[in-house]
Amino acid sequence: MVRIGILGSGKGSNCRAILEAIRDGRLTSIEPTLVVSDVLEAPILGIAREFSVPNIYLPPGHFRTRLEPAAEKELVAVLKEAGVDLVVLAGYMRVLKEQMLAAYPQRIVNIHPSLLPAFPGLQAWEQALATGAKVTGVTVHHVDAQIDHGAIIAQREVPILADDTATTLHARIQEAEHELYPEALAKIVATLNT
Ligand code: GRF
Repeated sequence: MVRIGILGSGKGSNCRAILEAIRDGRLTSIEPTLVVSDVLEAPILGIAREFSVPNIYLPPGHFRTRLEPAAEKELVAVLKEAGVDLVVLAGYMRVLKEQMLAAYPQRIVNIHPSLLPAFPGLQAWEQALATGAKVTGVTVHHVDAQIDHGAIIAQREVPILADDTATTLHARIQEAEHELYPEALAKIVATLNT
C-alpha cells in the first residue's frame, strides 16, 4: 500500500478525481493519508473532509511563492508523521525547496496544464491560446528544483478548437487532468516498492 499526501491551494478538482478513483476501485494499492493546504479556506480541504481524509491547513509564512523554511520543515514533519510515501501536488501554488526535495527524493509528483516542456508557469492554457497552437495538453511529472520541470511520467494531448476561449480550453484541459492523474498514479504506484 502506498500512502499518499495530497498538497493543494485551491479548488481541488484533481484531488477529487483522485479520491473518487480510489473510492470507486479504479485506483488500488493506494491510501490517501493526508491532504495539506497552505490556504486556510481552500475548497480542497472541504473535499478531503467529504471523503473522510485527514486534512490540515499549514500556515506558509510570509513568502509569496514558497514556504518559509520553518513552514517547510513543519510540512516534512507532518507528512512523515502521517507515514506518507508519495507526495501528490494538485494545484499547490508554492515551489518546494531543498527540505521537501531531500525528504522525498523522486517521490513528489505534479500535474501541469500543458505538454511540458511547452508552456511552463502560470496560465499555461492562455499561453497556448496566445501562440495559436492547435494542440496543448496535460503533463504529470516528477518534481525537481526547477519549476514545472523533472522527468515526465505521463502526458495527454488536448485539442485547441478555433472558437476556444481561455475558459473553454481550461475546462477541456481539466477534464483531461482528471483522467490522466489517477492513471499516472497507478503507473507510479506499480513502480514503488512500499
Ligand atoms: C490544475 O490545472 C493543475 O494542472 C495545476 O493547478 C490546477 C489545479 O486545479 N497545477 P484543481 O485545484 O485541482 O482544480
